Amino acid sequence: GKVAVLMGGHSAEREVSLMSGGGVLQALQSKGVDAHAFDPAERELSELKREGFQRCFIALHGRFGEDGTVQGALELLGIPYTGSGVMASAISIDKVMTKRVWLAEGIPTPRYTLLRRGSYDAAQVAGVPADLGLPVIVKPAREGSSIGVAKVGALADMQAAVDASAALDADVLCEQFVAGDEVTCPIPGTGEDARALPVIRIVAPAGNYDYQNKYFTDDTQYLVPCGLPAGEEAAIRELVVKAYRVLGCRGWGRIDVMIDAATRKPYLLEINTSPGMTGHSLVPMSARASGISYEDLCLQLLATAAL
Ligand code: DAL
Ligand code: MG
Repeated sequence: GKVAVLMGGHSAEREVSLMSGGGVLQALQSKGVDAHAFDPAERELSELKREGFQRCFIALHGRFGEDGTVQGALELLGIPYTGSGVMASAISIDKVMTKRVWLAEGIPTPRYTLLRRGSYDAAQVAGVPADLGLPVIVKPAREGSSIGVAKVGALADMQAAVDASAALDADVLCEQFVAGDEVTCPIPGTGEDARALPVIRIVAPAGNYDYQNKYFTDDTQYLVPCGLPAGEEAAIRELVVKAYRVLGCRGWGRIDVMIDAATRKPYLLEINTSPGMTGHSLVPMSARASGISYEDLCLQLLATAAL
């Protein structure tokens, strides 16, 4: 039957989603799937039903796509879709809610403070580095692709960073910076069948894995195999699968992790429930390292579409 690849959308990651969706669309078509692009920013989702689409591959990122809203609409329309359901998507888009769940389950994540737009004052902002140290990471609670993320090295720069994040989201997450290896791990599958693909280690220019270095430069190095001691990689793979399951995720996801250089302890930063599928993206790289082509990955993910 007809498959819609949902791409574009209304979020700040629209440009990334168009790249992800373009890749997925082409891959599915190359495998003989009757796949069509569908941009919820341009058309009503209810048209999916009228036009006879039988499944959706969600290649939307960020708000109104990765956050449970589109998932809820598809539930109402009765059209199976890839990836997590409403609740897991809604929690996972929110880095603070994700931390609360993980902390309750004993899963390590960096210490943090939540500031709320309209209610924080200068003293609270100044108190953040006093508690979490410097540098400190400041980011909107519900964005992706490093949009709005600042690494603040001086107290004098705190207020501007918090205000900039607050312009993007009412919730501003201030997070202790973990100095060490930056890694990520895709988790395909659901429940007991969820498993971790090979860990990728990311080495970005000057440690700055920002929007440009994620999608547009060729200066970022991606190491897979990741070069970590085998025991460390195995422990991370086990931890991320647990972290994925406790959120109730389905289909696939990717968890970003920092490994403290001093203690070698891993700290989970966040989960992406609709990970990038661009030519620079991480899940396809890891899949490739375990012998799964981009096209086969797309087919395997489509096969997990559910309600
Ligand atoms: N938010 C982007 C798409 C990612 O995590 O891959
Ligand atoms: Mg993210």
